[in-house]
Amino acid sequence: MAIQLLQTSSLAEQDRACIWHPFTQMKTAPLPIPIVRAKGPYLYAEDGTRYLDAISSWWVNLHGHAHPYIARKIAQQAGVLEHVIFADFTHEGAIKLASRLLAILPGTMSKIFYSDNGSTAVEIAVKMAIQYWHNQQIPKTKVVCFKNSFHGETFGAMSVASRNEFSRPFWKHLFETEAIDLPTPGHEEASVAQLRSILEKGDIACFIFEPLVLGAGGMIVYSAHALDRLIRCCKEYQVLTIADEVMTGFGRTGTLFACDQLHETVDLICLSKGLTGGFLPLGATACTEQIFNAFLGDHLKQAFLHGHSYTANPLSCCSALASLDLLLMESCAIQRKSIETSHQAFCKLWQHHPKLKRCEVIGTILVLEYLTETHSYFDSIRERLYRFFLEKGILLRPLGNVLYVLPPYCIQPEELQFIYDQIILTLDW
Ligand SMILES: Cc1ncc(COP(=O)(O)O)c(C=O)c1O
Repeated sequence: MAIQLLQTSSLAEQDRACIWHPFTQMKTAPLPIPIVRAKGPYLYAEDGTRYLDAISSWWVNLHGHAHPYIARKIAQQAGVLEHVIFADFTHEGAIKLASRLLAILPGTMSKIFYSDNGSTAVEIAVKMAIQYWHNQQIPKTKVVCFKNSFHGETFGAMSVASRNEFSRPFWKHLFETEAIDLPTPGHEEASVAQLRSILEKGDIACFIFEPLVLGAGGMIVYSAHALDRLIRCCKEYQVLTIADEVMTGFGRTGTLFACDQLHETVDLICLSKGLTGGFLPLGATACTEQIFNAFLGDHLKQAFLHGHSYTANPLSCCSALASLDLLLMESCAIQRKSIETSHQAFCKLWQHHPKLKRCEVIGTILVLEYLTETHSYFDSIRERLYRFFLEKGILLRPLGNVLYVLPPYCIQPEELQFIYDQIILTLDW
């Protein structure tokens, strides 16, 4: 039956016979859109329709799809070394990438621990922070996070984030964390006071946060100044700080990393998504020398006993090195700045529109929050906006009533204008 289906039906129907998709109610979802190739900011479907990828395919793509430079580098690497176990063995790509990342990461990062996605990069940072204290027999085990934060899908990553509808079935199984308010304008004092009273208890191992913008929680922007205050507070109480730059890293917020906009430095940084330019999965957790040293000892028990089969995959490292080559070119910085300038011009014109609760820009990200009654991810406006933009040939995936544009850096001014023009139409609804 399945084999017959494979021979006669469209890709979408074949998919339905054998695949379960992420974040999808499979009973009611329409058939998925089969993509057969991609180039620059465009995805091309089996039926010939072209989609402008205005969310960089879940925030991973930096320089455009199928970028020939990255593709060529990966193809060359595939013929030389595709993968090797990373315990007791190493390879040139992993070493080059670690040293190049350490040279550009904010603060005083000293070592890179590789994994294979954003959730694992976070799991590793949190485990490192907890074991850092355990190795020194200091009873600090708890984690502080922001309300509305998101750090990934695994149990640890779910635990250290805001409890929400997505994680509800698992709440009982998540470990306890303390959540504080985001220090948005007007709430800075409250947020600092909440953090301080939690830190007073003396059992906090670390504070994890998405620097400057909470992504999946609704693209909520907050100031570097406020984050600096919270980090200073953590330092006062000797609590480790973890910056989850999985979404914000590699130029999205106007600087190479969001933490570049801080005065304070952090102890651990989580990276993934844009790390490989969007070609291959890779995670990286950077830490300071102080963290690393706490794992040194004569016994294996003191070591960080954690690893994944595809840790530091050579193809992924090669892709990341090629992506860094492109990212660090002056022309890429100019492209990012031009996207930011266009977003700001749009925002200036439309921010006071009565249908909008919020319109703001951080770096290459434009955020619009529609005024709705529920303000929930499950708000019906989400589906309406999503379908509307797809019909216009644009891939935008609102978070409830929050629409955001987070494009690959190769997007052209006229392509941005096309997106803005369609957004403007939705303000007449
Ligand atoms: C801030 C942040 N951390 C972690 C993750 C998890 O990354 P992944 O989906 O690669 O597991 C995400 C994903 O959206 C994210 O936005």
